[in-house]
Parts: sequence; C-alpha cells; structure tokens
Amino acid sequence: MNFIVSDRDNSVVRADYEVRFVLNDNLENSGDKEILTMMGFEKGSVCDLPNARRIYVSLKDTNPESLRIAVSKIVKALKGHNVKTVKMPRLSAPATAEGGTYGAIKEIEAALSAIAEGFVLSGYSFDKYKSNPTPCTIEEVYVSVSGCDRVTAEAALKRGRIIGEATNYVRDIVNEIPEVYNSIKMADDAEKLAEEYVNVTCRDYSKDYLKAQDMNAFLAVNQAGPYDPKLIHLTYTPRGESKGKICFVGKGLTYDSGGLSLKTGNGMYNMKSDKSGAAAAMGIIKAAAELELPYEIHSVLGVTENMIGSRAYKPDDVLRTRGGVTVEVNNTDAEGRLVLCDCLSWAQDEVQPDYIIDMATLTGACVVGLGNYTAGVIGNNYDLQVDFKLKAQTSGENYTLLEFNDHLRPLLDSKIADVRNSVPGGTGGAITAGLFLDKFIKEEYKDKWLHLDIAGPAFSGEPWGYNPAGGTGAGVRGCIYWLLNK
Ligand code: BES
Ligand code: ZN
Ligand code: ZN
Repeated sequence: MNFIVSDRDNSVVRADYEVRFVLNDNLENSGDKEILTMMGFEKGSVCDLPNARRIYVSLKDTNPESLRIAVSKIVKALKGHNVKTVKMPRLSAPATAEGGTYGAIKEIEAALSAIAEGFVLSGYSFDKYKSNPTPCTIEEVYVSVSGCDRVTAEAALKRGRIIGEATNYVRDIVNEIPEVYNSIKMADDAEKLAEEYVNVTCRDYSKDYLKAQDMNAFLAVNQAGPYDPKLIHLTYTPRGESKGKICFVGKGLTYDSGGLSLKTGNGMYNMKSDKSGAAAAMGIIKAAAELELPYEIHSVLGVTENMIGSRAYKPDDVLRTRGGVTVEVNNTDAEGRLVLCDCLSWAQDEVQPDYIIDMATLTGACVVGLGNYTAGVIGNNYDLQVDFKLKAQTSGENYTLLEFNDHLRPLLDSKIADVRNSVPGGTGGAITAGLFLDKFIKEEYKDKWLHLDIAGPAFSGEPWGYNPAGGTGAGVRGCIYWLLNK
C-alpha cells in the first residue's frame, strides 16, 4: 500500500473513493446529512454511499487509536468493492505552540502514522489456503495535511506503514500451519531477514551447540519432536551511534501439544500460535532495520515443538539448566518457561544488554486474568514496567502490570530440585510463571528485565479492532513504540 501526501485541494484529487470522518457524530457539515440520517448513521458506524463514491465513518476523537479503528471500518466496508485508490479528509495540526504531542511524537505525526497503520493492519488477510480469497484491493491512499510540512508528513506515514507491515509479517508467521512452520523454517526466515537488510545479522544454533551449552531444559522440551531445536540470534546494528543495547527473547513453540501432560482437544487447537513471542521478536528486527532505529537490537529465539512420544520428557524428570539451577518437571505443558530460562541465561551472558525483554504466550492464566486484548508486564523494576506500559500503549496495544509478591515465591519450591516448573492448582499462574523466569535472571539484570505475557492478545479466534481472526502480531507495535518514545 502506498501513502501519498497531497497538497492539492481534496476536491481535485482523483481517487476511486473519498473518506469523510464524522467527528462526535455531528452530521451538520457532512453535506450528506439527509441521506445519512435516512440510513440511520449512528455512533461508531460506517456508511457507504457507492453512487457518490463516498464513505462516512464515525470518529470518536482524533486520538491515534480512534483513527486506526475508524480506518479499519472503512477498509472492512470497502472489501470486495475493487476500490484501488482512496482519498482521506484533510488533517490539520493543532495550532498550539508545540503542535501538540502524543508520547514523544507530535500529535499530527502520530495521527498520520496511525492512519497508515490502520490501513495496513486492517487490509491484512491470511488467505493462502483459501480457494477464493477476497484480499483488500486498496493500493493508494491520498492524505492531505495542513500545518505539517510534506517531508514530515511523508516520514510519519512511512513509519506507520513500516510498523504495520512488520506486524503483518509476524501475523503470517503465526498463522502458518505447524506442518510447514517448524524450527527449520523459522531459522530460514530469520536468515532471510539478514539477507534482506545489510545491518542485520543472523546466527542459528542447533542441538549440538545447545548440548555444549548445557541448555538441558530447552533440549528436554524438544526431545519428542522430529525437528532440531533452534536457538536463533538476530542482531540489528544502527549505522550511526547506538543509544543502547536491547535484547528481546522470544518463546518459539511452533506447536505446543502440552507434551505428556497432554492438552485437551480444545486446549490444543490454535497452539500453532505458541511461536508468537519469537515471531514478534523477528518483526521487531524487521521494523528496527526499516525505521533505522538508533539502538543495537538483539532477538534471541528459542524454537522447538512440544510433542509426545517415547522420547518425550516427563513429569518427574529433573533438568539441569544452563545456569546450573535444577528444575523438577511437574507439568510438561509448562514448557515455555523451560525454553525461555535457558535462552534468558544465554542472552544475559552472550549479549550483555542494557534491557532484556522476553515475549511469550506463556500462560492460560494470563488470558483468564486479563482477557484476550491485554498483555501482562511482569518484572522486578516497577518504574521500568510503568515506563514500558505507558509508552508501549501509545501503539494501541494494551498492557497491564502484574506484580510479584513474596507469598507467591515459595509456591515454586520443589522437594527434589531447586525449583519446580509449575504450581499445581495454578492460582496466580501468570505471576508464578514470571517468578519462575526470575530465578534465571542474574542479580545485575534484575532491574533491566521485563517479561511480557502475550498469551491473550497474540491470537484470536474472532476478528477485533483492526485485527483479523488469527495471529495479531502482538508485541511488535508495543515494543517499537516504547523504543520510539524512549
Ligand atoms: N502455551 C501455553 C499457554 C497458552 C494457553 C497460550 C492458552 C495461549 C493460550 C503454555 O505453554 C501452557 O500450556 N501453560 C500452562 C501452564 C500450566 C501447566 C502451569 C497453562 O497455562 O495451562
Ligand atoms: Zn504448554
Ligand atoms: Zn506453550
């Protein structure tokens, strides 16, 4: 999709369709009040006038998230219309001295980025297995602005497009079926990122390396699967000076059957999405490279399946992890933390970052507690949690804090090993999973670490907002906006 800044009067811009916003549901200046009233135009609605080649959409306010939502309604309404070019209403920068800000980004720029994101995100569909797909046909969007120069406007639109496309890239990975998307395929895709961007490098490590590194928790999860485990390390290095080193660590379970603690049929369905954390970490590298962010960014992905079979690891096993901590397995379905604990240990030693953020579809408890649209932000550093939440959610993603407490900590005690991998009964499951990971965070990293449980928002059976059913690409936008606002 292309976004074109037009400084001509909107009436002379030629496009297949014109979009008009109805702010606060006020139809007075719409020019089509009569027909819109007749058609029952109401709050939150969209009204297509095909004869006039105009579409009206209700706009709650001019916040970026309201714009994304409004744009998604337009894209949905125009699907199947074979509309290729669309022109947007003129946007004006606020007439305040600073021009208004949204996070660290000027309000008008945030609005333009949000419009581009809205189009790119809601234009997405995963239809490679459909015989008769109906993809979005919009190719060009004309945007006119006042109070903002062309170069700035183009940069803001480009930023939104890049962030949207990186999110869609992640959705494609998450939606791909487990038969196709195994650890080898993820390593190939990571390698492709390094081929595509000059300042991205990729190294991937297989079973022998993991053995040499004593990553026995990761290896145990992999034991019954037919594919090699992969530890993938992507690095983006900025051309100019780096403002810091950030490491993302992603849970990449290309399938989670639960292992011998087998999931139910319903519980297993959609567990192709258990690679969402790793996929998001790949999307962040892609976005960072295209946005030329001024940070050195590392993504460390732990990729495997969690399967059953005679070689499967078992409840009752005791695993010696990379850092030396021993773990009693009491549930093979709490596998994500076993992969992550070795990857977190490796990343601290090998990358030595300023911040280390893991992303994982880690617990069903997080979905129960926070719902389908919100990720949990967990860690030891309250200020970092708050900072991340506030900056990340300017992306439109929802984040909320889940806090540790000392009463939950002993629930992970094991009678036979240093720690057990799950708490029977599961109360406080999202936090106890975070506490498990915390056992593998070294003292000097305690305040530099965040764990994002994206189990809720990463995948949805039903479409919501500008997300289609399936993978959403959760984590990419939040982390990128956090970096942009830092
Ligand atoms: N991948 C799942 C978590 C999950 C559940 C993600 C639902 C998305 C939707 C994870 O590996 C898991 O199975 N966790 C267990 C942990 C339990 C055994 C302590 C869970 O949440 O039930
Ligand atoms: Zn599991
Ligand atoms: Zn899992």
